[in-house]
Amino acid sequence: MHILHVVGARPNFMKAAPVLRALGSPGSVRQTLIHTGQHYDFNMSDVFFQQLVMPVPDVNLGVGPGSHAQQTAEIMSRLEPVVLERKPDLVLVYGDVNSTVAAALVCAKLLIPVGHVEAGLRSFDRTMPEEVNRLLTDQIADLLFTPSVDADKNLQQEGIASEKINLIGNVMIDTLVALLPEALARWNGKDLTSVPSHYLKHFGLVTLHRPSNVDASGILLSIVKTLSEISRDLPLIFPIHPRTRQRLEASDLATLDSQLHFVDPLSYLEFLALQYHATLVITDSGGIQEETTYLRVPCLTVRQNTERPVTVTLGTNVLVGQDMDRLRTEVGRILSGDRKQGEIPPFWDGHAAQRIAKVITTWWR
Ligand code: UD1
Repeated sequence: MHILHVVGARPNFMKAAPVLRALGSPGSVRQTLIHTGQHYDFNMSDVFFQQLVMPVPDVNLGVGPGSHAQQTAEIMSRLEPVVLERKPDLVLVYGDVNSTVAAALVCAKLLIPVGHVEAGLRSFDRTMPEEVNRLLTDQIADLLFTPSVDADKNLQQEGIASEKINLIGNVMIDTLVALLPEALARWNGKDLTSVPSHYLKHFGLVTLHRPSNVDASGILLSIVKTLSEISRDLPLIFPIHPRTRQRLEASDLATLDSQLHFVDPLSYLEFLALQYHATLVITDSGGIQEETTYLRVPCLTVRQNTERPVTVTLGTNVLVGQDMDRLRTEVGRILSGDRKQGEIPPFWDGHAAQRIAKVITTWWR
């Protein structure tokens, strides 16, 4: 069997790494890895391949930035000849980025079976570009690998046949479980280069990159001003995504008198160690809501909704929306010792990719 994996953006890499490994272990599966080039900076892409010990992609489509239509169309037209030439038996796509839907559409039109890893998640908010990507990818995928029971229910409600749906757990947590010891060893060895050590005694961690938070300068500024106030009680480390950096460069933050410390995007191991040791995390990322739930670190999500409700119902996540008073209140609550303990959702156990490999082997027979 020949399986072709398509990855493109930062959150794809930690999902694909354990699947590549699980499918590679018996040695009976031929694998091809395609990088669309949606993310292309060293610290958004290459460093992840190094730390996750992923093979060098067989092909890099070198797509780069563009509007959603341009990026999606470019991936499709560059991927189609590769798929026609390589003739895979199955194509695996990951998560909810533009590369995911573009690749799924190419393969569905060529009648090549598609497997979607992280299927069924829904925010029910179609203003979010990722929600459109999720809905469309799931409609045309042949094998749907879900991380939690809510995802199965969403797919069933959308009329997707039960036999296509496989609850296998969370592949991103597979990577976390595998690499946490190394991340903590680096932390203990003080091998964390980008963050000044005086920040690392008692700190919070921030990431923001959703268009709904960073594209309107008024909203972004009010969030950053609130973070700056919070940082007087709890120093904050803010690894800044390229999209957010572009928006912030237009604003004058030099006048902020605070302990809000901006750094470039961090490597996987460095960011994982920081999450583990953080007093709290403030984010709008999907994956970080899951990682903090696993690590039992309080997470305040600057969004009205989440496609990962299990992180709220079972985990440590609290949605604060764009209500900055609420954000301040929740931070105060955590600092006073009142924090959600949370529990780890079923099947988030480090073995999700092995379950995917098993399903694929059975499907192929
Ligand atoms: C994408 C995904 C989002 C995911 C996020 C994680 C879509 C629709 N969105 O959003 O789901 O959570 O990645 O990072 O696919 N840029 C760089 N260097 C890079 C990558 C991007 O400078 O290595 C710039 C781009 O040129 C662009 C901006 O950052 O101007 C945004 O990149 P883009 O790929 O459009 O989407 P993200 O916001 O990263």
